[in-house]
Amino acid sequence: MSREPLIDGHGRSIRDVRVSVTDRCNFRCQYCMPAEGLPWLERDGVLRFEEIERIVRVLVEMGVTDVRLTGGEPLVRRDFPVLARMMAGIEGLEDLSLTTNGYLLERDADALADAGIRRLNVSIDSLQNDRFFEMTRRDSLPQVLRGLEAVARRPELAPVKVNAVAMRGFTEQEVLPFAQFAREGSFQVRFIEFMPLDGDRGWTPDQVLTGDELRKIVHAVHPLEECPREPSATARTFRFADGRGHIGFINPISEPFCSDCNRIRLTADGKLRTCLFSMHETDLRTPLRDGADDDELEWIVRDAVWRKELKHRVGEKGFRQPARSMSAIGG
Ligand code: GTP
Ligand code: 5AD
Ligand code: SF4
Repeated sequence: MSREPLIDGHGRSIRDVRVSVTDRCNFRCQYCMPAEGLPWLERDGVLRFEEIERIVRVLVEMGVTDVRLTGGEPLVRRDFPVLARMMAGIEGLEDLSLTTNGYLLERDADALADAGIRRLNVSIDSLQNDRFFEMTRRDSLPQVLRGLEAVARRPELAPVKVNAVAMRGFTEQEVLPFAQFAREGSFQVRFIEFMPLDGDRGWTPDQVLTGDELRKIVHAVHPLEECPREPSATARTFRFADGRGHIGFINPISEPFCSDCNRIRLTADGKLRTCLFSMHETDLRTPLRDGADDDELEWIVRDAVWRKELKHRVGEKGFRQPARSMSAIGG
C-alpha cells in the first residue's frame, strides 16, 4: 500500500525514522545519563514489537525508507533480533541500521546480521580503558572492542561507524588515536559535538569541542580531503589524503544541519518527536491501543510532522533543554 509522501510545513520530505526500543541502558555516559540512572518507563508503557512494526509500516507507506533502531541501549531489550527481523520484513524499507554502545555485540552480532540489520554505528568515546571508564562509568572497553571484532567478521554489516561524543578537556587527547584507528581498521570514526541532552542537565557551551577544532588537529598530522555531503547527512566526512580510511564530524552546535533534516523519532513509549529538541510530543500509543486504524494513525502523524521545527534553538536566548535526556528520546 502506498500513501501520500510525508512532508513537513517547511517543505522537507521525511524519509528517516529513528526508533528507540527501550529507555534502559547498561552504561551511564556522562553526556547522556546521571550516574544513578533514571527512572525507567513502566514495561506496560513500552511499545510491543507488533506496535512498533505497525507504526513503522504506516510510515514506510508514507515514503520513509530508512529506519534506525536505537535506545537507551537497544540490545538490552529482550529478543531484540526478533524485532530487527520484523523490521527487515517491511516492504519498501531500504536501510535498516542500529546504533549501539557495543557492549552486547559479541553476543549479538551474528543474530543481528542474520535478522537483516544492514549497518551498525557503535559509540566509543575513548580507546583507553581508564578514560573510557571516566566517560561511560563502565569498565567495558575490551568488551566493546570484542564486539567490534564480532561485527567485522560479518562483512555484510560494513561500513561500521564508530561515534565519539567530543567534550572539551577530554577529546583533544583522543582525536589522534582515533584518527589512527580510522586509518588502520575498517571503521569510519565520527566525532559528535556535545548537545544539551545530558541527564545531569549540566551542558554549557564551553564544553562543546567543535568539529572544526578536531578536524584541524587531525589535518595537521594526517591531511584530509572533504567528501561530497550526502543530502540530509548528519556528518561531514573526510578521507585521509593518502587514501587510508575516513573520518567524520557531526556538528549540530557549530554547523546545524536542520535545513535538510529528513528525520523524525519514535520514543520507546510511543511518542512521536519531530526534532531532538522538540518541546512537544505526539502520542501514538494511546490511539494505537484504542483501536485506531492505519488511516487514523497516518493523519495523526501527518499533522504532527506538518509542525516539525524549522531548526533547533541551542545557543539562542530562551533555549530550554527538553525534559527528556538523550537516552529517553533515542540518540
Ligand atoms: P548514519 O546514517 O550512519 O550517518 O547515521 P546517523 O549519523 O544518522 O546516526 P547515529 O545514530 O550514528 O547518530 C550520530 C549522532 O547524530 C547522534 O548523536 C545523533 O543524536 C545525532 N543526530 C542524528 N540525527 C540528528 C538530528 O536530526 N539532529 C541533531 N541535532 N543530531 C542528530
Ligand atoms: N550529545 C551528543 N551526542 C550524544 N549521544 C548521547 N548523548 C549525547 C549528547 N548529549 C550520542 C551517543 C550515540 C548517539 C546515538 O548519540 O554517543 O553515539
Ligand atoms: Fe547509554 Fe547511549 Fe546514553 Fe551512553 S549515550 S548512557 S550508551 S543511551
